[in-house]
Amino acid sequence: MTTPSSRRTFAIISHPDAGKTTLTEKLLLQGGAIHLAGEVKARGQARRARSDWMKIEQQRGISVTSSVMTFRKVFDDGRDITFNLLDTPGHEDFSEDTYRTLTAVDSAIMVIDAAKGIEPQTRKLFEVCRMRSVPIITFVNKVDREGRAVFETLDEVADALALDVVPMSWPVGMGGTFQGVLDFATGLVSRPEGDSREFLGKREAMEIPPEIAEEIELGQAGYPEFDLEAYRHGDLTPVYFGSALKNFGVAELIDAIARFAPPPRPQSSDQGTISPERADVTGFVFKVQANMDPQHRDRIAFMRMVSGTFKRGMKLTPSGLGKPIAVHSPILFFAQDREIADTAEAGDIIGIPNHGTLRVGDTLSEKNDVRFTGLPNFAPEILRRVALKDPTKTKQLRKALDDLSEEGVIQVFYPEIGAQWIVGVVGQLQLDVLISRLEAEYKVEAVLEESPFDTARWLKGSDAALKAFADFNKSNLAKDRDGDPVFMARSSWDVGYQQERNPELVFSATKER
Ligand code: G4P
Repeated sequence: MTTPSSRRTFAIISHPDAGKTTLTEKLLLQGGAIHLAGEVKARGQARRARSDWMKIEQQRGISVTSSVMTFRKVFDDGRDITFNLLDTPGHEDFSEDTYRTLTAVDSAIMVIDAAKGIEPQTRKLFEVCRMRSVPIITFVNKVDREGRAVFETLDEVADALALDVVPMSWPVGMGGTFQGVLDFATGLVSRPEGDSREFLGKREAMEIPPEIAEEIELGQAGYPEFDLEAYRHGDLTPVYFGSALKNFGVAELIDAIARFAPPPRPQSSDQGTISPERADVTGFVFKVQANMDPQHRDRIAFMRMVSGTFKRGMKLTPSGLGKPIAVHSPILFFAQDREIADTAEAGDIIGIPNHGTLRVGDTLSEKNDVRFTGLPNFAPEILRRVALKDPTKTKQLRKALDDLSEEGVIQVFYPEIGAQWIVGVVGQLQLDVLISRLEAEYKVEAVLEESPFDTARWLKGSDAALKAFADFNKSNLAKDRDGDPVFMARSSWDVGYQQERNPELVFSATKER
């Protein structure tokens, strides 16, 4: 019998190239979810070949989709843990999507390249985690290669991220002198074996070279002791050293997630925090992906379970709809395949196939009595007008823009005056994705033109105040996909100016759904 506390729902955050894909693969291997190294990437590539927009991923060598992988591990002491690994897109342009994915995890692994230390994207993702007090375990990767001194890395993490660091292991040499990784918990060294010098399971006590022994002694004296509470508050990070490629430190990392990482956390809602122990099912949609399979035009809403035990066929009410839907073929993401879920617990992610009823930010619940908060839309930083090459395709364009805004790829604004729709994004790459997906999936050829606007703000206020504002500013008003009023601004100065003149209105840079 598994209980909610046997769930660990986490993400890996890193800068591109630090080794996230390799580590993911090794975690899945250890969990018995896949049997051959290389499968994650191979499957990734097969998937990428499917549609044009995914070529962008290939060309730029980045991952723009995020997925969910579930694996289970039974430890020697009998603990049976289910791990839900949510993959976060690694490109800075996708901060919105990444942000939303990080709202659905309880903890994160931060992967750092031993030779490069903290890189820009690591830092950005870390900031998102900090904002939400997501606890972090650090994995310093690639110690089989020449890297920076261990102290340098530890101090950089401590200084750059203002965190207490606690080394949990220590590399015995690096690069040419690499002899293994000492695990402080057991005092044993994982040793390289065979021609590939991989870790194949040999752990032994070993005479540590004096200069490294001295370093280790200093290290153990110089940093605080591990403190579970401080880690769970996001104030302290345990640091593991290893090599994803050669399999060092991976088992220790899984054990650390099982042992220290928090089980499903309570989530904030309009009814206060909702505990994972609550009996009835609640959850929220943090991601919608359309056209995962071009043959089927399916659309999957990824729901993070907050409470209750979900059973197949159960009726849940989406907050955006108001009437219940029966969830007959939910999907669990066991790494090898999508599997039909029969039951799911708090902390689990289920994929719900649908035809556009479910949207990012929706709450789903049995009793329709709660709304989760904290999944914002961000004010776009780039606004473009969409022009059709073939004007008879207006209907298809509207459908495509609605779909893609629902997925969170873009935001769409329908101006009060004029026929040209405006799309907003937070990063340039989203525009490239938009154009190629319009062509590949909707057969719509479009171009993006400069728009006179620079940013947008959601408007809130009484009907009278909104109307008074609209009378004077019609050419700057639009509706978003939900029909909510948006002020299209020519500059941030414009926002400030209007805000001052209209104190009874709120000009908001985010919109919580
Ligand atoms: P990412 O998902 O974070 O972008 O990184 P990925 O796992 O794709 O790893 C980036 C490169 O670093 C890959 O090499 C990978 O083999 C290598 N790598 C990952 N972990 C380790 C490690 O522990 N030690 C060493 N020495 N290398 C590691 P590549 O040549 O770019 O790709 P590939 O052709 O080998 O797949």
